[in-house]
Amino acid sequence: MPLSAFGPGKVILLGEHGVVYGHPALAGAISLGVTARAVQSDAPSLDMPEGLTAPQLDALERAFAVAVRRAKYPKVAVELLSELPLSMGLGSSGALSVATARVLLHAARGAAPAVRDVEALALEMEKEFHGTPSGVDHTTSARGGLVLFQKGRAVAVKSARPIGMVVALVGPRASTKLTVGALRDRTKRWPKRYRRLFEHIAVLGREGAAAVRKGGLGALGDIMNVNQGLLASLGLSSPPIEDMVYRLRGLGALGAKLTGAGGDGGAVLGLFEEPSRSAVALRRQGVECFVTELGAD
Ligand code: PMV
Repeated sequence: MPLSAFGPGKVILLGEHGVVYGHPALAGAISLGVTARAVQSDAPSLDMPEGLTAPQLDALERAFAVAVRRAKYPKVAVELLSELPLSMGLGSSGALSVATARVLLHAARGAAPAVRDVEALALEMEKEFHGTPSGVDHTTSARGGLVLFQKGRAVAVKSARPIGMVVALVGPRASTKLTVGALRDRTKRWPKRYRRLFEHIAVLGREGAAAVRKGGLGALGDIMNVNQGLLASLGLSSPPIEDMVYRLRGLGALGAKLTGAGGDGGAVLGLFEEPSRSAVALRRQGVECFVTELGAD
């Protein structure tokens, strides 16, 4: 004591939404995330962060209560510090869940917990935020690096080269729950057509993982572009997202696509050989963005 733990945010390079239906997704932990700090106290407590909406505070309170109960009531006061914008598709709740699970389990056991225990507890917290999450967010956060995630299982994907990404923030968006629910309604109504699109996205996820292992950034970029087209076909893109995709491609991105639930806003990824220069150019256009290297430890 005091204890401190970090949970990185994530980006999904390929396969969001399909992953909800059991298909693979390729995701990577990013440099920004959430830090949880714990100090000794009479009873478990959470210092609520500022700037959250009432439903977000509610979900956080429920998630913390679940985590505390499962960790057997460690006597700690927890404080959270987040570098991640909320509800942008960057896995803020997954990162928060991983960081919190790490400090609570460490405090309860007196030793750093195993990754699988962190994942199990973080999943219980994620359910309070998202209902029925695929689990890709908190798993990527807990493992770090790049992972190919499918049906609750994650395989590490070793990258032959650093993967430089510009993450551009488009703006506020509807909740993941809402966007996933609306897509589920369309899928139920026209199952064959939507199944074909999900199957195609699943192939792209596997092809993308192979491209990453070989260091084929050109191929990865092309796969991202095709995935973006299929996400648009699924009704998950919008004018602000498409505008950002084309801006990034205009700056020389090897590939550009939305990341996360998409819909009416969120974040867009641009894959670049030299991401820092492109980020400077994008900021000059007034776009909020940051650079992250995927596949690094
Ligand atoms: O909450 P987001 O924007 O990071 O989206 C997560 C990815 C989805 O596939 C859309 C949902 C899920 O549970 O995997």
